[in-house]
Parts: sequence; structure tokens; C-alpha cells
Amino acid sequence: MPGYIIKTPRLGLRNWQPSDLEPFAEMNSDEAVMEYFPKTLSKEESLDLYNRLKEHFEKHGYTYFAAETISDKKFIGFIGLAYQTYEAHFTPCVDIGWRLRREAWGKGYATEGAKACLDFGFNKIKLEEIYSVTPLPNLKSVNVMKKIGMKKVGEFGHPNIEEGHPLKVCNLFRISKQ
Ligand SMILES: CC(C)(COP(=O)(O)OP(=O)(O)OC[C@H]1O[C@@H](n2cnc3c(N)ncnc32)[C@H](O)[C@@H]1OP(=O)(O)O)[C@@H](O)C(=O)NCCC(=O)NCCS
Repeated sequence: MPGYIIKTPRLGLRNWQPSDLEPFAEMNSDEAVMEYFPKTLSKEESLDLYNRLKEHFEKHGYTYFAAETISDKKFIGFIGLAYQTYEAHFTPCVDIGWRLRREAWGKGYATEGAKACLDFGFNKIKLEEIYSVTPLPNLKSVNVMKKIGMKKVGEFGHPNIEEGHPLKVCNLFRISKQ
């Protein structure tokens, strides 16, 4: 098991490694993947995010993990947990998030990895609650949140998105340990 922090029947979730950079940057430059983000990312922005996700792992012992399919060791995107400090009524908190390369959609990978991350968050990191956030139009992401047992607890204007932007208002989902 090559450094997997979390293993599911089909997926290994691990810290980031240099070979992830190219497929990660390609994913972040895909307009379909980034439909519900303000913009696609340049190679430099992907490198910066890669470094931040690695540092997050080193600091906290979890991150939005690099995800690979165990059968062929292919990088498919990220699924994981992150400590969030942006200004909102529910922060600081730990959230769960996911972003997959397009060819990995529609296979149940996000849900499979996310369920294992909730288990890791509650039983290994001993979190009491985990949040998830997505702009209102991102129904694919909401679908994952519902399937892993999260409940909608409200909507809020994301402070990192400008007023009036179509992605400003986000769904807030939560799940607690009980
Ligand atoms: C959000 C995102 C990760 C969801 O990925 P996904 O592949 O649609 O999610 P899932 O893992 O739940 O799989 C979905 C479908 O796979 C199908 N599937 C196929 N084989 C399956 C299997 N073996 N087990 C389970 N489901 C399977 C299911 O039918 C499921 O669809 P349904 O829930 O409508 O029945 C993906 O769309 C993405 O990366 N989007 C861009 C980034 C993004 O928006 N991230 C979120 C920001 S908040």
C-alpha cells in the first residue's frame, strides 16, 4: 500500500507527490471541472495549490488527499478534509471536499472516497462535526453530500466571491459524529 492514509475498495487516498502535478494541473485547467469555480487555474496556480495541500497535510495530518485508483495507480483528483478559516458564521471548521478529473466522474468514486474521509475525520481525528460547501447550482456536489448522509443547514454568501457573482451564494451542509 503506497503510503495510503485511507483505503477504500477501489481508491487510495494519500499525501501529494510530484507525479500528481501534471494530471492535477490538467484537471484544474478543464472548464467542465471548474464550472462552479470563478475560473480555471494556470499551471502556476495549480503548483501553488499543490504546495498548500501538501503543507496542510504536514501541519494537520489530513488534507484534500490526492486520490488514485488502486488497480492502476492513476491519479484521479482529490477527496479529503481541510481546515477552513475564511470569515463565516460556521468557521473555523473542518470541511470535506472533492474534485475529480472528468474521466473519473459517474463511477461512484467521490462518494466512496468521501464516506471513508468522514469515518477518518470522526474516528481518527476525533472531529465532532464536518461541513461541506458548494455554490447553489453545483448539483453534482450536492448529490454527493446527500449520499454521504450530510444535511443542508443553510445558505451563505461566500466571502471569497464578489457580490452579485452567480457563485456567491453557497449551500452549507453539515454532519455530526452522532
Ligand atoms: C462533484 C464531483 C466530484 C461528483 O462526482 P461524481 O462522479 O458525479 O460523484 P459520485 O461518486 O457520487 O458518482 C456519481 C454516479 O456514479 C454512478 N456509479 C457508477 N458506478 C458506481 C459504483 N460502482 N458505485 C456507486 N456509484 C456508481 C452512480 O450512479 C452515481 O450517480 P447517482 O448518484 O446519480 O446515482 C464531480 O462532478 C467533480 O469533480 N466536479 C467538479 C469539481 C467540483 O465541482 N467539486 C465540488 C466543489 S464544491
